[in-house]
Formats: sequence, structure tokens, C-alpha cells
Amino acid sequence: MKTVCLFLLLSLGAAIAVTQSDLVTSDSKGKLSYKKNDQGDRIMDYSSVGYRSGQDLPAPSVIPNKITVKPSGGDDTKSIQDAITKVSALPLDNNGFRGAVLLAPGTFNVDELKLSTSGVILRGSGLDATKGTTIKVKGSSTSVSVYGSKSPKFGKKYPLTKTYVPFGGNTLPLKSTSGLKVGDSIYIFTTVTAKFVHLLGMDKLVRHNAPQTWVAVGSIITTDRIITSINNGTITLDAGYPDSIRPELFDSDEDVPYVSTYVWEDRIENVGVENLRAIHPATKATNTDQFLTIGKAQNCWVRDLYLQDFGTGGERLAGCNSSNKTVVTTQGDAKWVTVQRLNIHYTYTDDTIAAPPQILSMLGTQILHRDTNITGGGKYWPMSSGSTRARGPTVHYNVNIVSGSGAKVVPHMRWSTGILYDNIVNPKGVVGITYRDTMGSGHGWTMGWGVIWNCEAAILSVQNPSNMFNGSAPVLYHNWLVGGRGKNDPGYKSKSLMGTYDHVGTTVAPQSLYVAQLKDKLKRSN
Ligand SMILES: *[C@@H]1O[C@H](CO)[C@@H](O)[C@H](O)[C@H]1NC(C)=O
Ligand SMILES: *[C@@H]1O[C@H](CO)[C@@H](O)[C@H](O)[C@H]1NC(C)=O
Ligand SMILES: *[C@@H]1O[C@H](CO)[C@@H](O)[C@H](O)[C@H]1NC(C)=O
Ligand SMILES: *[C@@H]1O[C@H](CO)[C@@H](O)[C@H](O)[C@H]1NC(C)=O
Ligand SMILES: *[C@@H]1O[C@H](CO)[C@@H](O)[C@H](O)[C@H]1NC(C)=O
Repeated sequence: MKTVCLFLLLSLGAAIAVTQSDLVTSDSKGKLSYKKNDQGDRIMDYSSVGYRSGQDLPAPSVIPNKITVKPSGGDDTKSIQDAITKVSALPLDNNGFRGAVLLAPGTFNVDELKLSTSGVILRGSGLDATKGTTIKVKGSSTSVSVYGSKSPKFGKKYPLTKTYVPFGGNTLPLKSTSGLKVGDSIYIFTTVTAKFVHLLGMDKLVRHNAPQTWVAVGSIITTDRIITSINNGTITLDAGYPDSIRPELFDSDEDVPYVSTYVWEDRIENVGVENLRAIHPATKATNTDQFLTIGKAQNCWVRDLYLQDFGTGGERLAGCNSSNKTVVTTQGDAKWVTVQRLNIHYTYTDDTIAAPPQILSMLGTQILHRDTNITGGGKYWPMSSGSTRARGPTVHYNVNIVSGSGAKVVPHMRWSTGILYDNIVNPKGVVGITYRDTMGSGHGWTMGWGVIWNCEAAILSVQNPSNMFNGSAPVLYHNWLVGGRGKNDPGYKSKSLMGTYDHVGTTVAPQSLYVAQLKDKLKRSN
């Protein structure tokens, strides 16, 4: 009976979910439950991503225009930057905003703009090619930067107990919580150990006869959270911890993770860039330029933008040099950022480049990227979240790509964790989470604890991080492929399927994991 219904629905072409996921199930009221594997790991909750931990962005009308800048016909960088400086000097209103700099309709010539004060919005007059606002960028490395200046100051260290913490939960057991309180902002510090690198075979990467460093042993990985409760030595975090913690992989007691409170004076927030078009010169041969980067910031946004020909070229020879090559980047110290309704377009194709651009590089944590269209271009990695060590929860939701087989929605390098790709449609290309071996000098395992949920692609390929040099080594980390449509492919350097799969080849309920989790959270908090 079930099979018959499924067949009928599919033959009608209806995008109706006919069967529930095995891993995340919803009751009739939308309350979700999660299936754990035998280690206790489960798919994490992504509902805390984005502006103000999952709130809608403020309507433009809430933030009044304070200065209007008109195009001059010449270089407009200084007049726009001066207006930003003036609005930055205004007081904050009750909503936490100083106001917006409005760019009038017309075409502006711009080099680099900097937003470095909380509460300031850079706003165009719309996306219409003739009646809206267009900024023609000169082709500098970053056209708009949203950047704070200060760094966090840390308090004393609170070590964890040496117990296994499965992936997907939001509690951590500490040796002592005395001195910590609910509402504290904390970083959790973990160390990359030799045993962990060895477990994944990442100490065996050799390229051109030279050993490659995947992630250096001793590197510190940080996760930015808030304590929401403290109970009998265990702290609860405002969002899931984005990895498992395995004491058997510590090299010594020095590697026991710890928590520190922080104070971050003037981490900028309530900064937005919205409602305009930005065009990069199509002909610049070594175009490694990005439109926008956000760092040392929280509760910021980028919305309603048309972005053309950013980050397309450069690096025609093998071997990467340092370049941004993205369209929008959130840096490792960004959190609660929403990137919404981008229309990213390429007017030409250049498949000769060695390292294609990563269109959206989402480092940091609790980043929400949604409702984007990407068209044109050739070989690229849209949503290459992240570059190195993005720490989820981070979501890419509802993205449509119209391009060729070179369009790959894949992580780029070196152990990002806790990223969700939800309802991404890339019909000619790839949506995957795979091994990259010695590519790019040892990208190796790109991601752990990633989820691909109801995505559509020519090829879906998901691999669990496992030791490619030692078939007997245990597989302790997972990447999940749930629902969706596309050829389920083993992925790079693998002859057999080696991910963790749930209903691949058919759409599952809930249609969107992120939306279902957000609804479930809102219901629980009401
Ligand atoms: C408190 O934590 C300790 C150590 O983890 C555990 O043995 C004990 O059962 C816990 N007590 C309660 C009430 O949860
Ligand atoms: C990057 O590499 C390319 C080709 O190897 C070279 O032409 C270009 O100048 C380099 N760019 C920088 C910023 O070093
Ligand atoms: C990359 O972006 C950062 C931050 O905006 C900038 O400082 C740097 O110069 C850029 N690097 C390159 C190679 O373009
Ligand atoms: C993306 O494309 C769809 C379908 O054409 C359209 O409805 C939507 O408005 C587009 N979104 C953006 C951000 O351009
Ligand atoms: C392969 O993995 C197994 C299981 O962890 C281990 O016992 C063995 O020593 C490993 N072999 C090598 C060559 O590292």
C-alpha cells in the first residue's frame, strides 16, 4: 500500500513528502524526536542559526534612512564612506540602530567600503537594473567589509571531565562549575591531537613525495556559546556542541577540552547591507575579489543583493596562493549572521582556473544562509562552507543553482563540523561531503557531522570520515545523506558507498529539517 501511494505521488511529480526520515521524526504536532546511533550521536538542532539566534530580520522601515548619497558620475567611495562615518557617530535608538545610509537610485563607482560601528545599515534603493541602485566595484580584494576591531578577553579555564560526549547534544560535563553562571558567554577550547589525526589517516598524506599537513597537531579549535543552565556539574549551551569529544583520542591530560568565559567589548552588531546590485568587472583576469566579508561581529545581515562576477578567476597555475575568492564570507569569529535572498550571477565561464571560487564561505558559528539563486559560471564551489574548520550549527537552506556540471556544493577543506545543506537544488552538479585526499596540499577529510537533507543534484556523494589507509580503523564520525534526488555516488577515492544514509532517492518528511526545527523551537518557547 505504502509503495503504491509513493509511486502515485512521484508519478504526479508532486513534491509531497510521503515518508518520514528515520533519523528525525515529527509527531502530529510537529514535535521532533531524534534517533541516536549506538554511540549516542544524533543529528543536531539547527534552530539557533542566524540573526538574534533565529529571529526574523528587522523590516527596513524599523531602521530610518539618515543620509542619502547620490551618484556623482566619478568615484563615489569617499562620499559613501563619509556618510557611513556620520551615521556611525549618531546615537543608538531603542532597537539598537543608528540608522541607514541610503544610496539613491543610479550607478555608483566604488572601491572599498568599511562598516565598523554597530547599528549602521548600508542600503540601496532596489534591485531593478534601471530604477534601483548599482555599485560598480573597481575590483579591490573586498568591496565591503563589516568588521569589529576588538578581540575577546578570556577568564579562567574550566576543564571538562574525561567522558565521551556524543555529537548532537548541547550539554558538557565540567570538573567544576563553581564561578560560572547562566548567561555567561564562553568559548570551548579543544586541541587537535596526534591520535585523532592518526585515526583518520591524516598523518599519511603525501603529495609530490612530500608529507602534507592536514590540520597541525596542537591546533586549537574554539566554539562560541552561551550557558543556558548549570546542573550538577553539567552546563547546557544555547546551541549544540558541534563535534563529539573522545577521551581515548587525547594524547595526554593537556588535551582535555576546557571552557572559558569571555568579555568582548564592542563586538559589532546590528550591521546590515541590503537592497542593491554590485557588479565586478567581468574582464579582470586575476579576479580573486570578494563582495563582502564579516568578522568580529554578531547579529548582522546581508539581504536582497544581486551580485555579479565576483571571485571568478586567478590561479590558473597549479598551487594555491592566498586569496579570498568568495562572494560573501563570514569569518571564524562571526556568529548569528543571516545571509538571505542573494541573486549571484556570472556572465561568463572560465573553466581553466585551477582552484575555482567558493561562492559562500561560511566560517564562524550559527550562520544562516537562505533563499539564494546562483546562475551562470562554470567550475565553482558554491557554499563551500567552510574553508577551514567552520563550526556549526550553520545552515544553507533553499538554494537554487542553474549552472553546469562544474557547480559543486561541497566543503572545501579541513574539518568543518555541524553544517546542514537543506533543500539545495543543483541539478547538473554535485551536492556532497567527501574526502579530498592531498588536493590543495592535503585538504583530506573536509567535514564531519554534516547533513545533506532533501537536496537535488546530478550526483549526491557523502562519505563518513574514515581511514583511507587502514580499513580496520574504526569509523567514529559521520556525515548524513537524508532524502533527496540524485545519483548516490561513492565519492572521491572510494569504491563503495560509505556515508550514513536515510531514504536516499526520495523526498522525506519533514521537507526542510531547518524549518521543522525552527517551528518546533518556537512552539516550545511559547
Ligand atoms: C550528578 O553527577 C554525578 C557525576 O556525574 C552523578 O554520578 C550523579 O548521579 C548526578 N546526580 C544527579 C542528581 O543527577
Ligand atoms: C596568485 O597566483 C597566480 C598564478 O600562480 C599569480 O599570477 C598571481 O599573481 C598570484 N597572486 C598573488 C596575490 O600572489
Ligand atoms: C582577503 O580579505 C581580507 C579581509 O577583507 C583582506 O584583508 C585580504 O587582503 C584579502 N586577501 C586577498 C589575497 O585578497
Ligand atoms: C530565485 O528564483 C526564483 C524562481 O525563479 C524566484 O522566485 C526568486 O525570487 C529568486 N530569488 C532571488 C533572491 O533572486
Ligand atoms: C589499523 O587500525 C587498527 C584498528 O585501530 C590498528 O589496530 C592498527 O594498528 C592500524 N594499522 C596501522 C598500520 O596503523
